Amino acid sequence: MSLQKLDIYFLRNIKKSSISPSPGINLITGKNGSGKSSLLEAIFILGRARSFRAKNIKQVIQFKQTELIVSGQSIQQSGQVFHLGIQFNGKGCEIRLNKENSNRSELAYSLPVLLIHPKSYLLLDGGPQVRREFLDWGVFNFQEDFLICWRKFKKVLQQRNSLLKNKQADQINVWNNELVEYGTIVSNYREQYLKKLEPFFFEICSCFLNFEQIELKYNPGWDQSESFMMSLRKDLPKDLRYGFTHSGPHRSDVGVMVDGRLAKHVVSRGQLKLLMLSLKLAQVKLINTEKNNSVCLLIDDLTAELDIDNKAKLLDYLSGLHCQVFMSTTELSNFGDLTNLDNYKKFHVEHGKIKEVI
Ligand SMILES: Nc1ncnc2c1ncn2[C@@H]1O[C@H](COP(=O)(O)OP(=O)(O)OP(=O)(O)O)[C@@H](O)[C@H]1O
Ligand SMILES: [Mg+2]
Repeated sequence: MSLQKLDIYFLRNIKKSSISPSPGINLITGKNGSGKSSLLEAIFILGRARSFRAKNIKQVIQFKQTELIVSGQSIQQSGQVFHLGIQFNGKGCEIRLNKENSNRSELAYSLPVLLIHPKSYLLLDGGPQVRREFLDWGVFNFQEDFLICWRKFKKVLQQRNSLLKNKQADQINVWNNELVEYGTIVSNYREQYLKKLEPFFFEICSCFLNFEQIELKYNPGWDQSESFMMSLRKDLPKDLRYGFTHSGPHRSDVGVMVDGRLAKHVVSRGQLKLLMLSLKLAQVKLINTEKNNSVCLLIDDLTAELDIDNKAKLLDYLSGLHCQVFMSTTELSNFGDLTNLDNYKKFHVEHGKIKEVI
């Protein structure tokens, strides 16, 4: 899958811009505040129907405008062309797929976008929510019924929590069964996904880092020496006291271990970024390898932070990945040595105007 054409209207400082990207690597340069991240944000919005940096999409709509539009044409592995479009006004959004009204999950399947930006190291350094989202995005692309099961689990969890808040202990057991049913499916999918991801992660890690032993440890969100149901029963007094469910996949996590210790406690800042990069690239590689699809990879402002060897390794790795990449930085030299790179295009952004550099 790759974007052949992209049109952006009234998105931050981009008033109107059209580009025809390369199916390989796209290098985006421009001064601070020129609109580089806004270009990547536009692609992210087209694939995910939300921004990666604004909770409220209103902030993304150009000042003094009432709506933003991003549309594009993507070519699938099969050769089929998809027309994608999304329009946001202050109140809601309209999604179009091949001239028909569509929804967020169809959009996400048609244009799987994955973002790496300077704060992505929080994947290792931040709270577990980021890691669950990381896992779930991967599972979503492999298991079609994952989203349904996850939504059902969340609904049952809400109902159970409201009973707990109202101290209605007698009705809890009825909800435990459903919670365990959907929670187990969600948890198994996550665990299976992580198992698939592991070899790709290890392979990529060995390109960038030389730790003796790296491990991904899955924590399902309950005491692993017992079943989910047993944990729920055991936790009941505590759950009633605090008014929420302590155990379950809503508390699950993944620990990245380096030489037996949690990575974030022992590795350097740069190494943390390389571990994050390896995790994300592993997701891309896994989809490329096992699914008849490929990811559109967005890398915002990262290369300037890598040393010269790692820049070269990254470019080398990306050009062998056979997926579409958009990378941004202020100066072309930040990308490293481009002499061995082919199938790439360069774009320069200035005051919200995007121009291809030939
Ligand atoms: N809603 C908006 N309407 C118009 N302009 C906006 C809006 N929101 C932000 N901007 C402006 O858009 C410009 C582009 O921001 P963007 O983050 O894309 O820049 P950038 O090229 O990524 O810069 P940097 O190199 O500093 O990361 C900024 O000057 C910002 O002030
Ligand atoms: Mg930026």
